[in-house]
Amino acid sequence: MKILSLGVKNFRNLQTQTIDFCDGLNVLCGKNAQGKTNTLEAIYLSTIGKSPKTRKDGEMIAFSHGHLEVFLKFEHLGIEKTIKLDIKHKQKSVFLNGVKLKKLSDVIGNFGSVYFSPEELNLIKAGPSHRRRFVDIILCQQDKSYLKDLQTFQKILAQRNALLKQENSKQQVFVWDKSLESITKRIYQKRKTFVEKLNIISKPIHSELTEGKEELEIIYTSQITDENISNFLEEMKNNLEKDILLGYTSYGLQNDDLVFKINKKDVKKHASQGQQRTVVLSLKLSELEILKSEYGGYPVLLLDDVLSELDENRREKLCKYLNNMQCILTCTEFDMNLNHHLYLVDGGVVVKK
Ligand SMILES: Nc1ncnc2c1ncn2[C@@H]1O[C@H](COP(=O)(O)OP(=O)(O)OP(=O)(O)O)[C@@H](O)[C@H]1O
Ligand SMILES: [Mg+2]
Repeated sequence: MKILSLGVKNFRNLQTQTIDFCDGLNVLCGKNAQGKTNTLEAIYLSTIGKSPKTRKDGEMIAFSHGHLEVFLKFEHLGIEKTIKLDIKHKQKSVFLNGVKLKKLSDVIGNFGSVYFSPEELNLIKAGPSHRRRFVDIILCQQDKSYLKDLQTFQKILAQRNALLKQENSKQQVFVWDKSLESITKRIYQKRKTFVEKLNIISKPIHSELTEGKEELEIIYTSQITDENISNFLEEMKNNLEKDILLGYTSYGLQNDDLVFKINKKDVKKHASQGQQRTVVLSLKLSELEILKSEYGGYPVLLLDDVLSELDENRREKLCKYLNNMQCILTCTEFDMNLNHHLYLVDGGVVVKK
């Protein structure tokens, strides 16, 4: 996967422009608040149709404008493709090779990128939704039926939660539970299989990053288990009174989480800041490997300000990967002895040196 160019219009502080990118390592260098992160965000938008930073699409539209446009030209397996995404009147539209896609999520699976910024430490530190998102974004790129199930699951769950707040709704709730049953089974199985695969891939990566000192283990935790999955409807029924009191559904996949362990100890509770960062790096490198086999080539790696956070050893290990793929990296200063193409970012303008 290779980005040829990125066009932006009214995207945050970026001036209207088209930026041509090169093979290999592209380094975007500039002072603070010039538009480096914004450039990566604009690129990532083409991967899943959403920002890696915010859920509020309107935030990305340049101040005092009403719409934005992002135009990505990329090459994959020798074929050139374009993705155009615009946000107008709070409405998002996506075009693949000039043809409007029926649903925004249809864009998923066309352009692959992996985004890595210091905020990704949230994968460890913040709530379970960050970890579910990590799993879901990869699975959705691999498997269209997973994406469809996930969307239906979220819709049904929202409807069920709304019903719980209404009087005399038990019978209707039961109808929703029946539709949740089969979707829950499928999503659970896929998440479980995915985490098994993630373990196989991340273990050697993490071991290499830590020179054999740390063994990483990733545990999928869910209220659903192989043993109780056949009793799903019964569990839902047992929880109904509680759910009505709470006003939301307390049992199910919406509570899924991942637990990371290093040498059998919980990373969230016991690992140092540096160890946590290394776990995130292992997860991101694993994401690259998984998506590589999915897309038939490495996705584009977007590294926002992460080199300064890694020690020399980790940096070197990460840079070894960079030889095999296109990478767009941001920094305020670049002093590494690497083959790269330099871009200066200043006042929302990105210029190749
Ligand atoms: N909707 C918007 N319209 C206009 N400007 C915006 C909008 N959203 C954010 N900005 C501005 O864009 C500027 C650049 O942000 P960006 O995060 O890309 O900086 P950066 O170059 O990555 O800086 P740093 O090195 O500090 O990470 C910021 O000054 C921010 O205030
Ligand atoms: Mg930044």
